[in-house]
Amino acid sequence: MTRYAVTLAALAALCASPALAADGKALFAAKGCVACHGEAGAKPIAGSPNIAGQNAVYLLRQMTEIADGTRSSAPVKVMKPVIDKTTPDERKVLAEWLATQRPAEAQPGDKAKAEQGAELFDENGCIGCHGADGLKPLADYPFLAGQRKDYLMVQIKAIRDEIRSTRRTRMMTANVRKFSEAQVEQVAEFLSQTKRK
Ligand code: HEC
Ligand code: HEC
Repeated sequence: MTRYAVTLAALAALCASPALAADGKALFAAKGCVACHGEAGAKPIAGSPNIAGQNAVYLLRQMTEIADGTRSSAPVKVMKPVIDKTTPDERKVLAEWLATQRPAEAQPGDKAKAEQGAELFDENGCIGCHGADGLKPLADYPFLAGQRKDYLMVQIKAIRDEIRSTRRTRMMTANVRKFSEAQVEQVAEFLSQTKRK
């Protein structure tokens, strides 16, 4: 009986870190996530987001909401069949492993647009939730710095136009509502050129 309990405790300890981390990497490859999000989630193809080093709770919520259809804007439909083949436990392992991976490098871009974007980011209250320069989000909110420009533009417009409309994205609809197409691009230039620390 005692020996059994000891074995269980040892097993639990084993599962707590290195073994799980290895599982995350293996799952990411086995489930086909690499094809779109790139090696360790930091080399995505056009239109797909960087997910390396993103907040774990945020990542898990997105996977859950993509799987159950709560987040269902058109571009996300390509990964629905893939996420549907993961279990809730596997998603948790994937989210926790991805959060520990090195974020993608900042991307080169238009400096003048980025400067205008930085001002818009300050003036429209983005800092209150995503932190200065999109680098210090509130607990379980997403990092924005270093995200792909094309992906950011699609998301800001989808949130503005209430196409990506979940309980949490609606918290920021008012902040982006008045953004023109040019302003969306400026904010996306700014964030994609900002290096994650
Ligand atoms: C066929 C390409 C494709 C595959 C395969 C794929 N994804 Fe995605 N994923 C996308 C696209 C495209 C988006 C963004 C869609 C949008 O614009 O809303 C996305 C979004 C996400 C997001 C939300 C990121 C954010 O910042 O909100 C997470 C998390 C994610 N994918 C994880 C995964 C995981 C884990 C797997 C493997 C089980 C996977 N994806 C497989 C294309 C893919
Ligand atoms: C009241 C808090 C709040 C404010 C203010 C806010 N956001 Fe957000 N934002 C969020 C939350 C929460 C999410 C994640 C929603 C979810 O979990 O689905 C988010 C998501 C995003 C995303 C999608 C990230 C991804 O990886 O898909 C972008 C882009 C974004 N915000 C940009 C902005 C910009 C630009 C501003 C300022 C104009 C702004 N936000 C203001 C709370 C806020």
